[in-house]
Amino acid sequence: MNTLFIGQRIIRLKSVESTNNFAASLPLAEAPEGTVVIADEQTNGRGQFGRIWHSAPGLNITATVVLRPKSLPLNKVYQLNKAIAIAVAMTIKNLIPKADIKIKWPNDIYANNHKMSGILTENNIRGGQFVSYLAGIGINVNQVYFPETESHPISLKQIAGIEFNIDEILSLLCKEIEVIYLKIKSSRFEEITTEYEKWLWKKDEEVRFEFNGNQTSGILRSVDDFGELQVETENHRIMSFKHGSIKIITKD
Ligand code: BTN
Repeated sequence: MNTLFIGQRIIRLKSVESTNNFAASLPLAEAPEGTVVIADEQTNGRGQFGRIWHSAPGLNITATVVLRPKSLPLNKVYQLNKAIAIAVAMTIKNLIPKADIKIKWPNDIYANNHKMSGILTENNIRGGQFVSYLAGIGINVNQVYFPETESHPISLKQIAGIEFNIDEILSLLCKEIEVIYLKIKSSRFEEITTEYEKWLWKKDEEVRFEFNGNQTSGILRSVDDFGELQVETENHRIMSFKHGSIKIITKD
């Protein structure tokens, strides 16, 4: 592993309920910063909003990276979420450079308009400080059959037409996470914001969305420091939306 600390300790599991749950249960001494928990199979892989993360055993990345950003102000947590999404997007872009890779707010990674990766971050905060920040990452790698879901999944293999090596992808991912996490550690938040905007799905494009039971449209502008989506409405007003409060309506 070509890193300083991310992935220097890797816990490999055949089968586990959820790598996030497993990582959360580890005592501090067993999971120094940078520890990665990776499993061939999750029996209860979790997604956002209590959804299930489906991943066929042995074919994909289902992993959790343990970070311990003790000195990160709590109100910067969303910058860290953005940083992880960028690292995953970069990893995927490097593997399939011709594909169109986007971060779909808040932190799904889309390839050619289909979901390739999901991220579930969970924090443990005590006394106003992070004890841990768990970045749970699922990337569809070699799976080619998916259950019918809303999110139109796609894998690296489906796009590139070749099999990928899971360990090699994990190494690349660890490297990208380390590079960007070091930026977070040195408070280079502006860079994170700028980079995130470059990857942002539908940025400066008109989107139709549903809010409070009404459908309307606006121009998707950005995501603020608190993770809220900024949409410019007809009268040039910027409206902010919390994750889960609006549904963006897509044609596909
Ligand atoms: C989402 O798209 O809603 C987030 C999916 C996150 C899935 C990953 S797989 C590794 C880690 N362990 C889990 O139980 N979930 C995350």
